[in-house]
Amino acid sequence: MYICLCHAVTDKAIHEAVDRGVSSYSELAFNTGCGTQCGSCARTARQIFNEAVEARSELSLPVISNSALAAA
Ligand code: FES
Repeated sequence: MYICLCHAVTDKAIHEAVDRGVSSYSELAFNTGCGTQCGSCARTARQIFNEAVEARSELSLPVISNSALAAA
């Protein structure tokens, strides 16, 4: 589902960003542009970001770095 229409950011993209190691909402915004144009998505994007961080911490999954993906 699209969360940010201005930058075509989906909820899946937010979860994937967290999986890659994005650890703050401001870092998510910097990397995806989410919430940086009209701002109407910011509240929902932050909520999904927080849920993704919480889900990841509950599972104790390792962070997947871009360099690890490139090596595969
Ligand atoms: Fe996300 Fe506009 S919908 S910045």
